[in-house]
Amino acid sequence: MKALVLSGGAGTRLRPITHTSAKQLVPVANKPVLFYGLEAIADAGITEVGIVVGDTADEIREAVGDGSRFGVEVTYIPQDAPLGLAHAVLIAQDFLGDDDFVMYLGDNFIVGGITDLVDAFREDRPDAQILLTKVPDPTSFGVAELDTEGHVVGLEEKPKQPKSDLALVGVYLFTPAIHEAVRSITPSWRGELEITHAIQWLIDAERRVRSTTISGYWKDTGNVTDMLEVNRSVLESVQPLNEGTVDEASELIGRVRIEAGATVTGSRIVGPAIVGAGSVVREAYIGPFTSVSEDCRIEDSEIEYSIVLRGSSVTGVRRVEASLIGRDVEVTPAPRHPSAHRLVLGDHSKVQISS
Ligand code: TTP
Repeated sequence: MKALVLSGGAGTRLRPITHTSAKQLVPVANKPVLFYGLEAIADAGITEVGIVVGDTADEIREAVGDGSRFGVEVTYIPQDAPLGLAHAVLIAQDFLGDDDFVMYLGDNFIVGGITDLVDAFREDRPDAQILLTKVPDPTSFGVAELDTEGHVVGLEEKPKQPKSDLALVGVYLFTPAIHEAVRSITPSWRGELEITHAIQWLIDAERRVRSTTISGYWKDTGNVTDMLEVNRSVLESVQPLNEGTVDEASELIGRVRIEAGATVTGSRIVGPAIVGAGSVVREAYIGPFTSVSEDCRIEDSEIEYSIVLRGSSVTGVRRVEASLIGRDVEVTPAPRHPSAHRLVLGDHSKVQISS
């Protein structure tokens, strides 16, 4: 069995972060979200992994390399444009050959891994096995319709009038039967080859399509709110560790991880929280569910329930909350007079200012 990991895409919902970097590499508890997926694949006993890459190919290659550190062997599959999940399967045909495979969306986070799912698929071998989860608003997802016995009878992509509240989760298992399906469908109104159409093609051809409904199990890290939520849930299981330097005037409360070479002086950190390697925290408060990446500076400030990416500084500002701060960003207070906000924001930035 092989794995196909999708790490191309446009990432419009995570702009401006995705103007300059791949969304699959945004860290959750200071580790790229894609790495959790690769670890889950390796844990399920799969070693041959194809990674579909787009505009951010160089960055993904640099981060993942040949896959040896995850115990897998990676083949990169370039996709010229994000033409859909089924398009990714189409261009991966040479890599996939006649093998069964798991397709894993590189920005998805599956709590608890995929080992049980892969084992169940290996035993039963339906032509497609999809995962479903109940969502409050199905209109922005692929949605499945099940009959009274729980068999999948129909799938719709982002329906205006959903026939159920069961949305597709970003892990799919297929036999080679999917190849004929992806060759047979045509692009949707949004110009993409939809995997939901390919699976519908299998249903119409009376092939076996099974579903498993899971609860509280997955997160799509495609937007900021979900990203912060995933970060929160991963930090819940962080173990306290101090590999840096914390002075006597500082207080670490609960599960706080201080990575190598980080220094904390005159500060209070309430876990769960992580301070990345080489970062400096001085006269600051870091509250629960905060991940500070490497080489950051948090000084004379308060921050909580947030992610700060590499090389950024937050200096002299009161409470920053529920925020995703990109790389090499500087957050500083405005001068008292005139009382005005001065902003240098990239395209598609979002700012909330208390006024
Ligand atoms: P999506 O989140 O559906 O699409 P996107 O990356 O374009 O993001 P947005 O909606 O914010 O613009 O993609 C799911 C995953 O699949 C993600 O990791 C990107 C990847 N992907 C590809 O590799 N190729 C594709 O053609 C598409 C559509 C997505």
